[in-house]
Amino acid sequence: MADELKRGLEGVLVAESDLSYVDGEVGKLVYRGYDIEDLARGATYEEVLYLLWHGSLPNAAELDSFAADLAAEREVNDDVIETVRALADAGERPMAALRTATSMLSAYDADAEGDAGEATLRQGRRITAKIPTVLAAFERVRQGEEPVAPDPDLSHAGNFLYMLTGTEPDAVSEETFDMALTLHADHGLNASTFTAMVIGSTMADVYSGVTGGIGALSGPLHGGANQDVMEVLHEIDASAKDPVQWVKDRQDDGGRIPGFGHRVYKVKDPRAKILEEKLRDLAESSGDTKWLDYTTAIEEYLTDQGLVEKGIAPNVDFYSGSVYDSLGIPLDMYTPIFAMSRVGGWIAHVAEYQEDNRLIRPRARYTGPEDAEFVPIDER
Ligand code: CMC
Repeated sequence: MADELKRGLEGVLVAESDLSYVDGEVGKLVYRGYDIEDLARGATYEEVLYLLWHGSLPNAAELDSFAADLAAEREVNDDVIETVRALADAGERPMAALRTATSMLSAYDADAEGDAGEATLRQGRRITAKIPTVLAAFERVRQGEEPVAPDPDLSHAGNFLYMLTGTEPDAVSEETFDMALTLHADHGLNASTFTAMVIGSTMADVYSGVTGGIGALSGPLHGGANQDVMEVLHEIDASAKDPVQWVKDRQDDGGRIPGFGHRVYKVKDPRAKILEEKLRDLAESSGDTKWLDYTTAIEEYLTDQGLVEKGIAPNVDFYSGSVYDSLGIPLDMYTPIFAMSRVGGWIAHVAEYQEDNRLIRPRARYTGPEDAEFVPIDER
């Protein structure tokens, strides 16, 4: 029915895509046919980027050359770093700083306009390589430290942790962080990906699309939820409240439980399952089981209450914050890290859509007045 209104575009098909498939009924996520569990456990983020951008998993030689090209683009112009400093000094929020800096990056890309398609992937590679440098510099400056220059010999994940702390990460931290990047790389036409696609469909450059995607991801109903979950866990900890009591109080106030519910998943998010397992490993090896205990208690309680059965189940954000905390990553960097990963998906979707582009232009049902009589300003 042409005139059927679908609020929030829920369930509306707007494009064909080979990139990722989410089966919300059984809790399955695939990138180009590969199960997320296999990719998270067996592939690096660089391999996943190659898969999303070039259509197949790379062989060893292809991966070496792809990873080297990506690593070679990590340096960021000094002017951008100066802007990042100014934003940090002004107390700007990390997602807003990232949004501003990403937009600014185009000024230093001689190839920033180009045509769509191939140009989107070329520029996208530069953006993907530089976002971690911007984020780590922002965090360092906020902490009163100097930014650390990227090391092209480290992996995408390892280099970010290195630039953040000034120390090369151990293998477990690097592997854990790499897995988190893979898990967040793509997820169908979520709000930020669709935002990037709408912008890409006008044939604007991909800097604009990624900048828009960052804005969309920053909201609490989308990427911001991972930080909300961790804030709850900290609140529980600081008040020494029983986690279940915290949930009951939140429910009594009519509030939502962050990290639960999803527009597509009606069962537990497969990414949440993998991260939960990772959190369990980290807790066992460190002996610090606090976050695991709280999250388990909340999940068990909501399961007993029948919420999970009703389809309000743990999503990826319920566990990612605890994993980042275990890696020593500051709380308000969680959503920027989501952006650092999801940029791979934004670029893949924009490039794919532009191959057979059609300007995205839906319409609204007009419910305003009709035949209003215009009155000149001096007679109103
Ligand atoms: N806690 C309690 N009740 C909830 C929750 C929750 N977290 N999420 C949904 N519900 C209830 C909601 O109150 C509504 O109940 P009723 O029909 O009785 O009014 C019902 O479930 C349907 O909710 P909805 O808002 O119509 O569902 P939606 O598809 O628009 O919402 C969502 C999806 C993610 C916005 C929502 O579940 C939510 O606000 N969750 C908390 C925030 C969160 O964790 N966001 C991260 C999403 S996953 C990562 C990402 O994709 O970025």
